[in-house]
Amino acid sequence: MGICLGIPAQVRLRKYLKIIIKTSIKKNPMEQTINHKSPAYFIIPLTLILSLGYSLLRYNILGPVPWKDFPFLIVNKGISLSSFILLSLNFSFGPLKNLGIKISKTLLNSRVALGISGFFLMIIHALMSLLLFKPTVYVKFFEADGTMTLTAGLSMLGGILAFVLVWAYNMGLHTHLSENKILKQFIVSRSFLLIAMLLGGAHLFFMGYNGWINPSGWHGGLPPVSLIAFLFFFVGYIINLLGRRSN
Ligand code: HEM
Repeated sequence: MGICLGIPAQVRLRKYLKIIIKTSIKKNPMEQTINHKSPAYFIIPLTLILSLGYSLLRYNILGPVPWKDFPFLIVNKGISLSSFILLSLNFSFGPLKNLGIKISKTLLNSRVALGISGFFLMIIHALMSLLLFKPTVYVKFFEADGTMTLTAGLSMLGGILAFVLVWAYNMGLHTHLSENKILKQFIVSRSFLLIAMLLGGAHLFFMGYNGWINPSGWHGGLPPVSLIAFLFFFVGYIINLLGRRSN
């Protein structure tokens, strides 16, 4: 048996329902950032396609890497590059706005989606790299006796610390840590993020600088993935240094 309400009661009920739906959408930040109009829907797939495409072109098509290595070695390069680009964009939109550059509200709202996808791609890269990291795959990172070279050690230390710091930053942003406000403030502070970014830059610099200064060795004249990621780091770091406010 249906419930029969008088006309004014029905109107009032409809009004309340509208208010409830409106406010629940407003209060849920994920609804705002991952709605179908969000630029994240365009930026994330485009970054992935361009990064994977560039890696495939440079290493498999123009370079000497055999096709059998595409699914793991080369996809890992594409994933690490897209992760770096998405995280750099995520960290830079706010500071760019502070520097007076017009960044739309939808772009600012897309930061959560860019950050989360960059973060998950970073986890995938770390897991894949741990499986790949052996002297037979990365000859240049190991001495003849099978131990890591100094620069490889510095690069991996930078990568692992950057990974943990970005993880902590992400946790600080998305959890309350209400029992320790000072710790939370430190984890989401400007200095903490600048250190995390610097470690990411060190990860790339120590792994790649030897190849960067030798353009004659670049496959098809295309710069290495590590150098492209480093350029994103460099520009992103300057933007954050100048435009990120202390909190
Ligand atoms: C557990 C932490 C990490 C480990 C073990 C690790 C390991 C590696 C390894 C072995 C490479 C060389 C890949 C290659 O030349 O094929 C590499 C490259 C790279 N990593 Fe990481 N990494 C870590 C963290 C990170 C983090 C936090 C980022 C930031 C998003 C990152 C971004 C990159 C990029 C952009 C490259 C360049 C790819 C290339 O030139 O081939 N890595 N990493």
